[in-house]
Amino acid sequence: MAKIIERYPDRTRLNHWAVALLFICAGLTGLAIFHPSMYFFSALFGGGSWTRILHPFFGVLMVLGFVFLFLQVWRDNFWTREDSAWVRKAPELLKGNEEGMPPVGKYNAGQKVVFWLFGISLVLLFVTGFMFWQPWFANFFPIVVRRIAVLIHAIAATVLILSVIIHVYAAIWVKGSVQAMTRGTVSEKWARKHHLLWYRKISGEK
Ligand code: HEM
Repeated sequence: MAKIIERYPDRTRLNHWAVALLFICAGLTGLAIFHPSMYFFSALFGGGSWTRILHPFFGVLMVLGFVFLFLQVWRDNFWTREDSAWVRKAPELLKGNEEGMPPVGKYNAGQKVVFWLFGISLVLLFVTGFMFWQPWFANFFPIVVRRIAVLIHAIAATVLILSVIIHVYAAIWVKGSVQAMTRGTVSEKWARKHHLLWYRKISGEK
């Protein structure tokens, strides 16, 4: 029988899916108030007023959820010398030639870049969001600061949405990854194939 390895405990998976759900809610409410062409999303949240009221709360909860997730995975997302070698070989991976790639730890360089983009964009969204949150905080900031905050908020949201699209695409593309976050386990074959250094570390294999 194929050997099964734990990749995420229950608390990490619960945390991850809560952040994913809050991302969808914050994203759809945000898009609805960003442009009239996407206003129809507001129908999912009880109309325009509710969408506008709920959006910052979804956002704050998403950021808080991400802080807990961050604390659990940031160490495995540190950049190493092997990651730079992996990036240089990345064009081969895109051609479907995974065998020639250098071995990686728990996450590959692509996952690490996406992880730090999540972190940076969420910090920017959080800080700038407060600066124009009416009626609570916006009045503490001069209008020019609020205008710049709105612009940075929109850019950070675009970066976050694109990063999540890459994250989900990669999770589906690398067969066997989604079950890491649904069941919490992966097969030994998957671990050896995609994260050999991580597999060796947890199994004690030389
Ligand atoms: C909505 C659909 C989403 C799906 C299907 C999804 C899927 C996955 C899967 C399969 C993994 C495990 C990858 C592995 O262990 O190699 C993972 C890890 C992770 N996901 Fe998601 N995810 C989603 C949304 C999000 C969102 C919105 C965020 C944060 C903004 C997020 C943050 C993370 C983080 C931090 C990890 C840990 C791995 C790492 O540091 O790269 N995910 N996700």
